[in-house]
Amino acid sequence: MNTNTIQRELPINEILHGDCIEAMRRMPANTVDLIVTDPPYLVNYRDRDGRSIQNDVDASWLKPAMAEAYRVLKQDRVAVCFYGWSKVDKFFEAWKDAGFQPVGHLVFRKTYSSKSRFFRYQHEQAFLLAKGRPPLPKQPLGDVMDMPYSGNKLHPTQKPVSTLASLIRAFSLPGEIVLDAFAGSGSSCAAALLTGRKYIGIELNAEYHQAAVLRLNRVSGRIAKRSSPSFPRPVDDTCVPARLKANYCSAV
Ligand SMILES: C[S@@+](CC[C@H](N)C(=O)[O-])C[C@H]1O[C@@H](n2cnc3c(N)ncnc32)[C@H](O)[C@@H]1O
Repeated sequence: MNTNTIQRELPINEILHGDCIEAMRRMPANTVDLIVTDPPYLVNYRDRDGRSIQNDVDASWLKPAMAEAYRVLKQDRVAVCFYGWSKVDKFFEAWKDAGFQPVGHLVFRKTYSSKSRFFRYQHEQAFLLAKGRPPLPKQPLGDVMDMPYSGNKLHPTQKPVSTLASLIRAFSLPGEIVLDAFAGSGSSCAAALLTGRKYIGIELNAEYHQAAVLRLNRVSGRIAKRSSPSFPRPVDDTCVPARLKANYCSAV
């Protein structure tokens, strides 16, 4: 099967509504170029407004989801997977069982704390996971990054697009396919589109799925406007100054 046929079978630039294990099972193996995903942290999270996250208590989905993520990722490529530090053992076992090799660990520094107990908890974290032997980036990012507050308007644990965009630029090329199997409000998908990549998002919760679909429609409308002759801004925003980039990503 050639690349065009495989791409036709993929839900390119779509946010699917449903269980990511089922959805990924329908995708051919070795087809996505990068995974950037933020699964439930297994902490039974509830925000001040009472919003919660499906599958945040029971880990039965974790191993099958990571096995499917590994299968659909191309050989010699990477996945960035956020995780909850208090359940690191469960995540690690699932990644290793799937076949992933941890090749980096990221700490995202927040200016606010999500909780205060033994510490004021002020960071998020993710592993960089390899399938095979991915090439090293020409200009590696630092593994401690700032994570501005997203505002959580669309989702209780909404990640900022600017941070995700840096990771997508570092580990994929324009035109490549980025998968987020736990898409929430579609932050990774928005970051993929804004950096000139294609996206595939999967979200179980109907309300967050709807929010993500509407958001991605807004983003693609904005990109279409931007690429019109009256608004000449590049689709891949590598040359947008950092100060402007932060504003322009946080607005979506
Ligand atoms: C931590 S949140 C992701 C938030 C996202 N990063 C954002 O910026 O909006 C995890 C999401 O995974 C979804 N989810 C949980 N189990 C799932 C499954 N089996 N398949 C697809 N999505 C799932 C939840 O509904 C939740 O929205």
